[in-house]
Amino acid sequence: MAAIPAQKDDRKTRPDSTSEGARYTRVAIWLHWAIAILIIWNLLSGFLIWDLAREFFKEHRPFYFIGITLHLSSGLTVLALTVARIIWRLMHEAPAFPATMKPWERHSAHFAHFLLYAGMVLMPLTGWAILSAHPPAGSPGALASPSPMANAPTRSALASASSGPQPAGGPAGAHGAPPPPGIWWIVPLPMITPIANIGIEPGGVKPQHILHEELANWHKVGGYLMLMLLLVHVGGALKHQFIDREPELQRMGLRGRKPKA
Ligand code: HEM
Repeated sequence: MAAIPAQKDDRKTRPDSTSEGARYTRVAIWLHWAIAILIIWNLLSGFLIWDLAREFFKEHRPFYFIGITLHLSSGLTVLALTVARIIWRLMHEAPAFPATMKPWERHSAHFAHFLLYAGMVLMPLTGWAILSAHPPAGSPGALASPSPMANAPTRSALASASSGPQPAGGPAGAHGAPPPPGIWWIVPLPMITPIANIGIEPGGVKPQHILHEELANWHKVGGYLMLMLLLVHVGGALKHQFIDREPELQRMGLRGRKPKA
């Protein structure tokens, strides 16, 4: 069998690796900034709604439903754009790293990018799973489920959000809160069926609730990790730009000449 040649890190060996002004294409730049803005919004809205201003959102339900709809819509858009970004990345080479970058800096940058991609996929998926972890509306599990509305708006809205089309008189255990209108108020949010179906029978309601709590914890921890990664990523870019005097921001379209399409 013919031996497969070992893959080289062409980013450091390409002849243009010292070239001034190496930069991403216009598509990559748009995807990068769209994803960045949406992630910042998700972190802001997440910590605001479920942590910092929790009491406010508990008392002002219309704001809560606008907030959760914007949060889930933005997060799922991040997922879709990340898939597009990964496809782009598989079809294009990234521009060369600046020649002054030390090997450990290249490795750290690769690692941080990998973690960012992982977060951009896992955060939306865990968020979606949280919303799915409720008994399907009208099922025996939903009828047996204790009211989640009494004290925690977070849980209540999640229950409403997961219940899809409501049976006459509203879902069992929910006291009248309307479900979030869907992704960007346009597409109804589908539930992840295997997770929703765990609570379809009364015996599954408790395990499903435990899963819900675990997912919410992972999503929260992920939020903190994502925030840290973002700070490291921005810090690294600023260091290259202003301390190493490399045209780092230009690579992502912030300064200098126009990128190719
Ligand atoms: C890049 C994507 C996302 C990021 C960075 C993000 C970030 C966050 C953060 C920081 C929190 C607050 C955690 C806390 O303090 O308790 C949160 C909560 C939440 N997020 Fe996301 N999120 C993302 C995507 C999504 C998506 C796509 C959904 C739903 C489809 C979603 C649903 C939720 C829910 C339901 C909560 C409340 C969890 C609880 O019960 O405490 N998130 N998110």
